[in-house]
Amino acid sequence: MTQSILVIGGSSRIGQAIAQQCGSFGAQVSVISRQPAPLETGWFWYQDALQSDDSSQACIEQALAQQPDTIVICNGVLHDADAMPEKTIRQLDSTQLAQRLHSNVVIPAQYLRHLFRYLTRTPQVKVLVLSAKVGSITDNQLGGWYSYRMSKAALNMLVKNLSLEVRRLNPSACIVAVHPGTTDTPLSEPFQSNLPQGQLQTAEQTAQRLLKVRDGLTPAVSGALLHWDGSVLPF
Ligand SMILES: NC(=O)c1ccc[n+]([C@@H]2O[C@H](COP(=O)([O-])OP(=O)(O)OC[C@H]3O[C@@H](n4cnc5c(N)ncnc54)[C@H](OP(=O)(O)O)[C@@H]3O)[C@@H](O)[C@H]2O)c1
Repeated sequence: MTQSILVIGGSSRIGQAIAQQCGSFGAQVSVISRQPAPLETGWFWYQDALQSDDSSQACIEQALAQQPDTIVICNGVLHDADAMPEKTIRQLDSTQLAQRLHSNVVIPAQYLRHLFRYLTRTPQVKVLVLSAKVGSITDNQLGGWYSYRMSKAALNMLVKNLSLEVRRLNPSACIVAVHPGTTDTPLSEPFQSNLPQGQLQTAEQTAQRLLKVRDGLTPAVSGALLHWDGSVLPF
């Protein structure tokens, strides 16, 4: 069980549920988010409104004072006020694609770069980067959602690459990408009506599942893309 957790992208519905559950077990909770701190959480909260290289470095440095044994990166955007995911390549817009790559890959990569030194020096540290099954190239039978799928596939490569680099210096670390399962959050909200019965989880259920995955992580799976039940998904 985690004693100290850092949740990055901590305004995420799933991230909030993870923070709440860890807090209720007595773990120390630190959050980095673009959003300002809500009132009275009892968590360490570092607002990174700019998400610049300097601001993210400063937030990471402050958050590492709590010596997290677990780090969860939640940043991910599927749709926003300007665009829904593409059904066909004819809807692909290069500005939107660049924005999805930025929020889904560049931002996690920036935080992970600033975490690198800590990851190489902290025994048994665990990092869960929230990805998506739709980012698996092997699993893709449906097509569509170009920008989101491409950005999550790239995120999976980031995790794999980093796991290899960290392993050389700290073989006890474990860094994984995880598919949280379809969860009732603003991200999935427009796509919930056609889901098979029972597929939609609450953020609390997903947080429980992810913390169970966290507890079962070993260095042997470092670099993998995991399903919410802890099984390995194909890249
Ligand atoms: N919900 C699902 O069904 C589902 C399924 C598969 C995968 N996922 C993945 O799970 C993770 C958490 O998603 P959620 O469902 O909890 O979504 P959510 O509640 O909509 O949270 C959105 C997250 O993305 C960050 N974000 C939003 N706009 C951003 C931007 N422009 N640049 C950088 N970061 C930005 C937010 O960080 P701030 O705290 O800084 O605002 C927050 O962490 C995401 O990576 C998502 O892809 C979710």
